[in-house]
Amino acid sequence: MKLKKDKNAVILAHNYQDKEVQEVADIVGDSLKLSLAARETDADIILFAGVKFMAEQAKVLNPEKKVLIPDPSSLCSLAAMVNEEMVKEYKERYPDAPLVVYVNSPIEIKAMADYIVTSANALDVISKLESDVVLFSPDSNLANWVAEKTGKKIITIPPTGHCYVHLLITGYDVIRMKEKYPDAVVMVHPEVPKEAKRYADFIGGTGAMVKFVSKSNARRFLVGTEVGMLNRLRREFPKKQFIPIVDKAQCIGMKKINIEKVYWSLLDEVYEVEVDQKIAKRVREALERTFALTG
Ligand code: 13P
Ligand code: SF4
Repeated sequence: MKLKKDKNAVILAHNYQDKEVQEVADIVGDSLKLSLAARETDADIILFAGVKFMAEQAKVLNPEKKVLIPDPSSLCSLAAMVNEEMVKEYKERYPDAPLVVYVNSPIEIKAMADYIVTSANALDVISKLESDVVLFSPDSNLANWVAEKTGKKIITIPPTGHCYVHLLITGYDVIRMKEKYPDAVVMVHPEVPKEAKRYADFIGGTGAMVKFVSKSNARRFLVGTEVGMLNRLRREFPKKQFIPIVDKAQCIGMKKINIEKVYWSLLDEVYEVEVDQKIAKRVREALERTFALTG
């Protein structure tokens, strides 16, 4: 905490991070909240405790600032499912369809996007688009959920894009846990498969889950997302009980970061996140277009 003050640094931590990392963070949140926080900070250094695409997005929004990631190998496997060739092919096939890119994607793909969304605003953004046909990359479970809600035809690039962590949470797991805890409220992330969503009381990203719990009178919740989320929920709502639907739902990329690495990162000012300026400009334009659409 002293080092953070001496260096005029701000620590942004994703909801999936370890308890100790969340405790030293200035802001703990979902992808959208952290992007907005990165846009507004006046600190000299932004230390990002999350996976690499999140830190890259912070750099895009703050090209003048030093953005650090404690472990550059903290990667998101969902983001690695798409490449530029795939997107070019789909754009040629559907030239009139807007391209909506999920934040869990490589920076080069975001640079090709018309809009960039997170789990918090994907539904809102896509429902506001005039076109009934939309290209979306890379998560098919989120895309199918939005398609069902909006009635739009959403073409996913690639068609089977998924997060291996959320794929572990099946419909069977939800039923089994509901039988064990019949009084509990079930919350799942939109990245879980359709069968798991069918039995949920609430579907939303990690930020929406926090908001949902804050407004609910329920005492017990079954949580269907990466297990780090329970750190955030238990810190914020100590009187409520949170149980993971699948306790093996752990993200290797997120777990690469720990409190020691955060300390060394800040001390040595490593590892600096760099983004090509031309790419960053295109990503900023897509982000501003998205923020303008959602107000
Ligand atoms: P949120 O934007 O809902 O926090 O999700 C990020 C993520 O990586 C989901 O696996
Ligand atoms: Fe990516 Fe899945 Fe990890 Fe989220 S939980 S960062 S989508 S691999």
